[in-house]
Amino acid sequence: MINNTTKQQILDTVRIEEVVGDFVSLKKRGANLLGNCPFHNERTPSFTVSPVKGFYKCFGCGKAGDSITFVMEHEHFTFPEALRYLAKKYSIAIEEEAPSAEFIEQQTQRENLFTVTAFAEKFYQDYLWENEEGKAIGLSYFRERGFTDDVIRRFHLGFAPEKWDGLLTAAEAAGHQQELLEKTGLIIVQENKKYDRFRGRVIFPIHNLTGRVVAFGARILKTDPKSPKYLNSPETEIYYKSKNLYGIAQARKSISAFDSCYLVEGYTDVVSMHQAGIENVVASSGTALTIEQIRLIGRYTRNISVLYDGDPAGIKASLRGIDLILEEGMNVRVVLFPNGEDPDSYAKRVSTEELKVFLKEQAVDFITFKTKLLLSDAAGDPIKRAALIRDIVETIAKVPDAITRSTYIKHTSDLMEMSETVLIGELNKILRQQDKKREGTPPPNAGDPFLPPPTEEEFQEHEEPINYLDATVQEEEIIRVLLHYAEEQFDFVDLGSDENEPTRHRVIDFVISVLRDDGIHFTNEAYAGLLAAFSVQFDEGKKYNQQEFLQELDPVVKNTAIHLLTPPYELADWAAHQIEVRDEKTILHKAVIDPIMYIKKKQLGKMREELLQQLKARIEAELPYDELLEDFNSLNQLQAQLNRYTNTVIQK
Ligand code: GTP
Ligand code: MN
Repeated sequence: MINNTTKQQILDTVRIEEVVGDFVSLKKRGANLLGNCPFHNERTPSFTVSPVKGFYKCFGCGKAGDSITFVMEHEHFTFPEALRYLAKKYSIAIEEEAPSAEFIEQQTQRENLFTVTAFAEKFYQDYLWENEEGKAIGLSYFRERGFTDDVIRRFHLGFAPEKWDGLLTAAEAAGHQQELLEKTGLIIVQENKKYDRFRGRVIFPIHNLTGRVVAFGARILKTDPKSPKYLNSPETEIYYKSKNLYGIAQARKSISAFDSCYLVEGYTDVVSMHQAGIENVVASSGTALTIEQIRLIGRYTRNISVLYDGDPAGIKASLRGIDLILEEGMNVRVVLFPNGEDPDSYAKRVSTEELKVFLKEQAVDFITFKTKLLLSDAAGDPIKRAALIRDIVETIAKVPDAITRSTYIKHTSDLMEMSETVLIGELNKILRQQDKKREGTPPPNAGDPFLPPPTEEEFQEHEEPINYLDATVQEEEIIRVLLHYAEEQFDFVDLGSDENEPTRHRVIDFVISVLRDDGIHFTNEAYAGLLAAFSVQFDEGKKYNQQEFLQELDPVVKNTAIHLLTPPYELADWAAHQIEVRDEKTILHKAVIDPIMYIKKKQLGKMREELLQQLKARIEAELPYDELLEDFNSLNQLQAQLNRYTNTVIQK
């Protein structure tokens, strides 16, 4: 555990151009450096490094970050690994916080388990290649299935002898303790019996990210309805099913090189695709896809292609898992294999070239895939069709990015031949419900199994004002301005006061207090996170320093911040793009005010609508309404004032 002083020292010492320069050849270009992007294939360099800012950004693939994120992405390091790497590079002595006794014990225990699994892997592997039984049964099975010796070795495949104590005897002879053998799940201990879990099966070792064996999958050789086709290790201290993907160790380099990952179902699918020369492939191993598995892939790419064999029931069952990928903001495509084929059988039947063409041509984006799949089910049935619309829109609602969402809405409206407005209406309804759930106030009756589901009217009553489809643009704008100019000052004529004299404001003070006064919350998670960080900065009353601010950010929002700090998001860049900058102050003033006004205007619109309803109700009920009318009139005035400002908004 690296202590904070060392962390700070590392951050203060590193030079981005040197860190990147170790991997990419860089040429000077003005204040920046330019090279070929290491994260995607390109011929003309679009990878820029800014020594002043300490960032890199690729204008081809959009990857951006600082020294730490660079080595994390490029070398696939974890955060502490990246710090250690940089410390070594700059000869900074690492001061460690002493790990606790408990931590040490846990580590030792894990290490011991790894020793046992490594022993077992070698045992099964040797048995496959050297033992007569292993060769005659295991090796010939793999060869019959068309696996080459090379790929059998690459995946460390093995064979477990058809005995109760094959591994047990060998492990005890090698001095491994019974307790550890039991803890890895390789040996089963029952009262006075102990025996091998895997017997007479071919073995697929399961590796973690760093290539160490954590568990095993064992396939039966003959079809036997009485025993399961696959037996797997139980969960242990080193194996969490939900966090592991079969093949990740062998695939990770290729996943980042191709910036995409194929997701298949079975061990054999992974092995066969490798054999066909496609290495960016992992398997969820028959269990439903989990968030942790998706995030594991997400460390290397944002693009996942799910490969399905043509079994409709299986596909329908897995649709939910894929929604999870969308929720992570990743892109999902789907490839459907012909009926009766899986990636393993298909890869064996056709040439590598044909397989590659097939994967490329058959890939459709997930939402189109799901729409078509469900549409064919719902043909001619209006009730099913209505349910389908809701289902698809629910999926679209999982996509965090507003712009991507609206693209999907357009596309779906074409596919289903129905108006975009209806879909957007449905989408906003779902988004509002989600928002409520997140805030802990469920929609009426939700979650109570004894009450009927809420009616349409009940939902309508709980309408919220903000149109989620387009507030994100303004939120981004506000954050961008803060990141660049938080410490700057600008002149502003206060709408509320009678004076026409402008007053000076610091950008951060103005933005944070106006947003707070008006109770404006951001809906985009990343922007909300950054706004919260600025809010803390404001409360602490410190001077805003861009570098320091960035260093303290959570890595997830840090990337968003860096994106907004590099072109094309730079104000200063306007000059470079031949847009005449007459007066920086005017632009800053507009940049601060416009997006806030825009959001405020929306909020006012909603308040006005509500007041109007109340007013109507009172008039109808013949109750006094003078006070309300007064409020209503001042709202109208405010709105008129706001309109004067927003009429000049540059529409994006
Ligand atoms: P082959 O039939 O040898 O081609 O294997 P496969 O990997 O294609 O298996 P299949 O498509 O039938 O199943 C996909 C994955 O689900 C497998 O790789 C296993 O991880 C898992 N699986 C399949 N059958 C069983 C089973 O009986 N028990 C358990 N625990 N997992 C299974
Ligand atoms: Mn198969």
